[in-house]
Amino acid sequence: MAERPITIAIDGYSSCGKSTIAKAMAAKLGYAYVDSGAMYRAVALYALRNGWADGDTVNGPAIIASLNSIDVHFRPDRATGRADTYLNGENVEDEIRSMAVSSVVSHVSVIREVRAKLRAMQQQMGLRGGVVMDGRDIGTAVFPHAELKIFMTADPEIRAQRRFDELRAQGRDVTFESVRTNLAERDHEDTHRAEDPLRQADDALVLDNSHLTPHGQLALALQWAEQRIGMRNPKMGN
Ligand code: CDP
Repeated sequence: MAERPITIAIDGYSSCGKSTIAKAMAAKLGYAYVDSGAMYRAVALYALRNGWADGDTVNGPAIIASLNSIDVHFRPDRATGRADTYLNGENVEDEIRSMAVSSVVSHVSVIREVRAKLRAMQQQMGLRGGVVMDGRDIGTAVFPHAELKIFMTADPEIRAQRRFDELRAQGRDVTFESVRTNLAERDHEDTHRAEDPLRQADDALVLDNSHLTPHGQLALALQWAEQRIGMRNPKMGN
C-alpha cells in the first residue's frame, strides 16, 4: 500500500528562511510546496495597481468588492523548476517581491474577506496531504490538524541582513534600513491583527535558525517529518 503523505505547516516571522526550508523539504519528500505569502502579495499588487493601497491606507471595501475578479494561482516554470505566481493570467512572480508590495501587503492581509478567500484556496490545495505550505497562519487556521507544524524564528538583525542581501542580489535598489523597518512593521502588524494573527500553534515545534546552516536546519526538519510520516504509516505485523 502506498505511504500516506502528511501535511507540513511552516509559520514564522518575515525572512526567517521559511521558504528555503519548505522548498527543500518538499523536494526531498516529493511533496508540493505552496508559498501562501505569494498569494497575499498578489492581492496586494492588484490593490496597488488599482490605487487602493498607498502607504498606510488601504481601500478595504474596493478590494472586497473585486475579490471575484482576482484570480491567483501557481504554474510551474519548466526552465527554472519553480512554481511562479500568476495574477489574472499574468506572471507576477518578480513584481510581488518588490518593496512597494512588501510595504502594503500586511495592510491588505488584515482584511477578513481576503483571508477567507485565500484560506479556502489553500485548503483546497492541501486536500490530499503531501504538501508543505509556509506562511503566518498555516498551522493555526489553514491546516489546524497538520501532522507536522514548525514555527520558525531568527534574530531580527540576521533576518534583515538576509533579506537585504537577497534583494540586492536580485538587483533591487533597496537600503538596509528600509528592509529592516519593513520587516519590523510587518511582524508587528502580522502578530497583532484580529484575523488569524501570526502565533505559534500549541503543538508546533520551534526552529530558531539564527545560527543553523541551511543544511543543519533541513536535516533537523526532515528528521521531524520522517518521524511524523512513520506515525501516520505504522508498520503492520511487527
Ligand atoms: O517573504 P516574507 O516572509 O517576508 O513574507 P511572505 O511570506 O511573502 O508574506 C507576505 C505577507 O503576507 C506577510 O507579511 C503577511 O502580512 C501576509 N501573510 C499572511 O497574512 N498569511 C499568510 N499565511 C502568509 C502571508
